[in-house]
Amino acid sequence: MKIIAIYGGPRLNRNTDQMLKRYLENIDINKNTIERVDLKDLTISMCDACYYCAKNAKCKFNDDMNLIYKKLDEADIVILATPMFFNSVSSLTKVMIDRCQMYWSKKFLLKKQTLKKGKKGILLITTGAKQKDKTIPGVSLVVDLFFKSIDAKFTETILIDNTDNKPFEERTDVIKHVISSAKSIY
Ligand SMILES: Cc1cc2nc3c(=O)[nH]c(=O)nc-3n(C[C@H](O)[C@H](O)[C@H](O)COP(=O)(O)O)c2cc1C
Repeated sequence: MKIIAIYGGPRLNRNTDQMLKRYLENIDINKNTIERVDLKDLTISMCDACYYCAKNAKCKFNDDMNLIYKKLDEADIVILATPMFFNSVSSLTKVMIDRCQMYWSKKFLLKKQTLKKGKKGILLITTGAKQKDKTIPGVSLVVDLFFKSIDAKFTETILIDNTDNKPFEERTDVIKHVISSAKSIY
C-alpha cells in the first residue's frame, strides 16, 4: 500500500508529531511505502475562491500543493495528523484542505475524478483540553469532507486529548492503540 502521512502541526517533537512518528514506525514497511509530508515546510497559497478549478479541473496556483496533489492521487491510505486549534484542524492543515476544492470540483461539479479507488483516510489528533464529545465534531466535519473530496473512506480517528495535563509520552493506554492501529493498517 502507498501511504501518505500529512503532518499539519507547526511544531516538532511534541504531542502530534510524536503520535505520528509512533504510528509510522509501527507500520510494516515490507508491505507498505510511507511518505511523510510536513506542511510547515511547504509553501501553499490559500485558496482565493477564484473557481478556476470548477471549469478547468485543476488549480491555477503553481506551488508546493502540487507535491501533495501528486501524493494524494497515488495514495491508498492518507493519514492526516493535526493538533486541534479552536475546535478545528490547525491553520496549516486547513489551508491544504481548502486547496482540495480542486478535487471537490472535479468530483461533484465536473464528475471526472481520477483518484485511485478504495482509498482510506485516518485522522490522528491531539487536543489540549479533555474532549467531552470524543467524536470531536468541529474537526470531524472538516476532515470528513476533505476525505470525501479525495475519495477516501474515513476509517478511523485516534484522539489524544488533555495533552495540557498529560502529554503524549505518558499516555500508555492510547499509545497501545496507536501501535495496534498502525500494525493493522492494511
Ligand atoms: C492556536 C491554538 C489553538 C488551540 N485550540 C485548542 C482548542 O480549541 N481545544 C483544545 O482542546 N486545545 C486547543 N489547543 C491546544 C492544542 O490542541 C494542544 O496543545 C495540542 O496537543 C498541541 O499539539 P502539539 O503538542 O503537537 O503542538 C490550541 C493550541 C493552540 C496553539
